[in-house]
Amino acid sequence: MSWPTRAELAAKAAQMTRDPVTGEVAAIRYVGVYKAFGTHEVLKGLSVSIPRGKITAIIGRSGTGKSVTIKHVMGLLRPDQGQVWVGDDELAAMSDRKLRTVRNRFGLVFQNAALFDSMSVFDNIAFPLREHTRMRRAELQAKVRDMLALVGVHHAEDKLPSELSGGMRKRVGLARALVRDPEFLLYDEPTTGLDPILTAAIDELVVHTHHARPGLTSVVISHDMAAVLRIADKVVMLVDGVLAHEGTPDYFHASTDPLVVQFLTGSLHGPMKV
Ligand SMILES: Nc1ncnc2c1ncn2[C@@H]1O[C@H](COP(=O)(O)OP(=O)(O)OP(=O)(O)O)[C@@H](O)[C@H]1O
Ligand SMILES: [Mg+2]
Repeated sequence: MSWPTRAELAAKAAQMTRDPVTGEVAAIRYVGVYKAFGTHEVLKGLSVSIPRGKITAIIGRSGTGKSVTIKHVMGLLRPDQGQVWVGDDELAAMSDRKLRTVRNRFGLVFQNAALFDSMSVFDNIAFPLREHTRMRRAELQAKVRDMLALVGVHHAEDKLPSELSGGMRKRVGLARALVRDPEFLLYDEPTTGLDPILTAAIDELVVHTHHARPGLTSVVISHDMAAVLRIADKVVMLVDGVLAHEGTPDYFHASTDPLVVQFLTGSLHGPMKV
């Protein structure tokens, strides 16, 4: 098999400047991305766009490479082949310095909240500001408290992560991801492990946060199909390392494709085997 050249990939990227599902500008483009770990091929030529200013959900079975996909966009992983574009910039062509500035445009809410255990809630949220800005104390305090209020944990600023419930930790993780006003907010399974009421509350928060920040591009990886179909503008379904389906929630609701039907209904019967 011969790989496409950089110029061929760039030409394909140029054809993907508009997201086909929403008609919006493509803020992120994956163009023929391959990624393997040893002999285990995870992404096998993924091409897909993420529309600017919208909520995009990525769905697919455990181990299909959803987390791997979003790690590429921040340069946390590099493709073996193919290109990842953020706006008009292709990541592999970037200097480390430029890559850092691109990373700074992203907020990431991890699969497990990944807070610093020895730091208070306040300090966890303040950390990115202390690391990356020279914000004065009063301004920093105001900013952190704004974030705490936005995610509804203003009463917990002096607590340690170990003193919080799972749902509160997720909220603190979200506040930390938001504190530097990112252009992109990536959520990796923000509701996994939460009870149904908290799950609904976090889903609400994703939508609320999205609409509170004009221009924010949100990407949510989730196994919660009901929530995905309720909150997303665009849904991307990955199967076997490639894009299997992309569309609006209505498209997925109406689909009769056995893969989609089986996944959405969580049926044991269909093309996907346990
Ligand atoms: N750094 C790594 N080194 C080796 N293998 C990895 C690495 N990161 C991911 N993988 C493998 O790549 C595959 C895809 O992983 P990924 O975490 O993207 O799955 P996922 O779709 O997010 O699954 P889940 O829904 O369970 O979170 C898995 O088989 C995983 O073991
Ligand atoms: Mg994952």
